[in-house]
Amino acid sequence: MIKNLADTVVLNNGVKMPGFGLGVYKVEDGETVVYAVRTAIEYGYRHIDTASFYHNERGVGKAIRESGIPREELFITSKVWNDQQGYESTLKAFDESLEKLGTDYLDLYLVHWPVSGKYKETYRALEKLYEDGRVRAIGVSNFHVHHLNDLLAVCKVKPAINQVEYHPHLTQVDLKAFCEQENIQLEAWSPLKRGRLLDDPMLTEIGKKYRKSVPQVILRWDIQNHVITIPKSIKAERIRENADIFDFELTDGEMKQINELNINERSGSNPDDF
Ligand SMILES: NC(=O)c1ccc[n+]([C@@H]2O[C@H](COP(=O)([O-])OP(=O)(O)OC[C@H]3O[C@@H](n4cnc5c(N)ncnc54)[C@H](OP(=O)(O)O)[C@@H]3O)[C@@H](O)[C@H]2O)c1
Repeated sequence: MIKNLADTVVLNNGVKMPGFGLGVYKVEDGETVVYAVRTAIEYGYRHIDTASFYHNERGVGKAIRESGIPREELFITSKVWNDQQGYESTLKAFDESLEKLGTDYLDLYLVHWPVSGKYKETYRALEKLYEDGRVRAIGVSNFHVHHLNDLLAVCKVKPAINQVEYHPHLTQVDLKAFCEQENIQLEAWSPLKRGRLLDDPMLTEIGKKYRKSVPQVILRWDIQNHVITIPKSIKAERIRENADIFDFELTDGEMKQINELNINERSGSNPDDF
């Protein structure tokens, strides 16, 4: 389990990935994203999760350059969007992302959604980028077990990551077990269910015991479950608050209580019918 904000998880190809990061979905490009990313890096975040679909890669790149932190100390993820899927179009999308980010490599590149009839060709392009040394690790996002099985039957490079919606209302029990068995690291998107868990009485009660907020309890539960987490905020105090989770430990009983909040409820689309 990670012990601090820069601490890393070792992926199945040996690459070390910080187990906690900043998500920037729906963060406006320009000043807003530059401020959020710069604030996070100043506070000690070393991992930023963006995507071509978020239309803020330019701002993320600017913040990274302005941070003064050497590029190799940062971990940057981007993703190929659905309308760019396919072999050649993915190679082109990757170049566009690099150009916008102003970097010459990515740490992690993901197939954003399992677009039917396309995702295997898309992933083949990611393998090419990986073999060419242009990305340090490759993976997928929003893949169910059946998508993973389908891909594992043909891929040359096993996905290092599966980034999926994961929070106390959607604990992905079978998918998590499958990924652990296959040594594919699970990563949580919308870990805070986009703010829809803040009033939960049990999470509030657990938080009171440790003088922690509900987001802090949830994010601590993520890391104790060995799930990489990437909460999004554009507010300095919340960027700090979300990362202030390394000085307390949930008991086994509390972990179990939180796991039992699961109602298989999504805030986003189901990968089978997006
Ligand atoms: N692969 C995919 O398909 C996929 C899909 C969705 C998301 N993602 C990634 O996962 C990241 C996180 O998911 P998300 O952005 O959907 O949702 P999230 O992190 O669960 O929640 C973000 C929301 O919670 C608020 N918030 C953050 N910290 C808070 C705090 N301490 N107290 C109260 N409210 C707080 C934020 O508002 P403020 O900004 O105003 O603080 C924002 O409205 C994304 O940014 C993106 O990088 C990936």
